[in-house]
Amino acid sequence: MRIVAKPLASIVSAGVTRFGIREGLYSRELFVEAAQEAFQGCPNLSPKKDVDGLFVGQMSESYEHQAHVAPMIADWLGLLPVPAFRSEAACASSGVALRCAIYAIQSGMHEVVVVGGVEKMTHLRTAAVTEMLGMASDYPFEQWHGISFPAIFAMMATAHMNEYGTTQEQLAKVAVKNHENGMLNPKAQFQKTITVDDVLKSRTVASPLKLYDCSPISDGASCLVLARPGLARNFTDTPVHIVGSAQAQDTLGLFEREDVTTMNVTKLAARKAYEMAGIRPEEVDVTEVHDCFTIAEIMAYEALGFCKPGEGGKLIDEGITRLGGKRPVNTSGGLKAKGHPVGATGTAQACEVYLQLTGQAGKRQVKGAEIGLTSNIGGSAATGVVHVYRRGD
Ligand code: COA
Repeated sequence: MRIVAKPLASIVSAGVTRFGIREGLYSRELFVEAAQEAFQGCPNLSPKKDVDGLFVGQMSESYEHQAHVAPMIADWLGLLPVPAFRSEAACASSGVALRCAIYAIQSGMHEVVVVGGVEKMTHLRTAAVTEMLGMASDYPFEQWHGISFPAIFAMMATAHMNEYGTTQEQLAKVAVKNHENGMLNPKAQFQKTITVDDVLKSRTVASPLKLYDCSPISDGASCLVLARPGLARNFTDTPVHIVGSAQAQDTLGLFEREDVTTMNVTKLAARKAYEMAGIRPEEVDVTEVHDCFTIAEIMAYEALGFCKPGEGGKLIDEGITRLGGKRPVNTSGGLKAKGHPVGATGTAQACEVYLQLTGQAGKRQVKGAEIGLTSNIGGSAATGVVHVYRRGD
């Protein structure tokens, strides 16, 4: 085993719902669906007896007009009266929930916790969802002027193209790759392959970003059962250890950044997470990054040190991040094809890495994967969370 760093916490089971349009369900029901899968995958776990804490990532009360969701989900999981917590960090809500769960275990106050995320969005019109998502940007200087998230990422894409010569074809190749991977994931929202031409000919959402450069509006939930490392073997023979966990923040407004071609939060968090894990970027076998828009995946390659600044486009051109390539990224289909129920995304990334490192990823399995990484961002990357995982030995 290549990593010797001490585990911070261990994943002993995971569950994720099908992402997409889940008509007629509330987020509490989606969370139960994800948790049931995690509980069924861990027959030695008695949730009522063993679980002593619940951490839920959810972006907004507005989608379902429902606040105070932590006790509600604890109730629906049959976990009352365990302490339950909700975290909000826009699209990084459950990435941050995972960090809180790790804090809880590291503090010694909790031994086995459920951590996950959920969002129910598709029952609302696109304009309403766009407005609610937009609340995670700066109100007086961005929202008030009508700037949406597609527009914010379009500005980053334009800057990256100007600075480094990144092309629309390279952005399109990210979407093509992630749709290909989504076809191998039965829980992905989109189950169809697309071509570069399809992307380029799709309608413009916020120039230069086209329809297929965007992640969709989605419903879904994901969850992990996390244990103190010394207890993990009581629940499973195949734990996945979290060996690096880091987070960084940037200005809320994109306009306040010195450089909008770089995801500084991801760069800083990755540096720290690699250091904790004692690994270099080239040692990661399988990675899930936050491709809310195709440009975000290109920028993530650079921030994670998979290539030099400005060379993200080259990496996708060379097929290095494809399934079967040297460094597969977004084997789940990513946010682009798997879907992006924003609160659920951070722990859904961890679920995919868990499946990969335990050999349960089916047709999209990366052979012999031992080390995984997830990179989750909130808003225009005002929050960045990076985790490093290793297969239990
Ligand atoms: N990728 C591919 N296809 C998509 C899609 C996407 N992102 N979004 C919608 N579609 C498809 C739908 O499946 C539907 O196909 P069909 O006609 O075959 O059924 C068709 O496009 C129309 O869907 P509709 O929901 O009416 O599209 P829309 O114009 O209302 O929404 C976007 C499209 C891109 C504006 C919307 O998906 C969006 O806002 N995405 C970004 C979400 C976001 O900002 N998340 C946070 C990131 S920080």
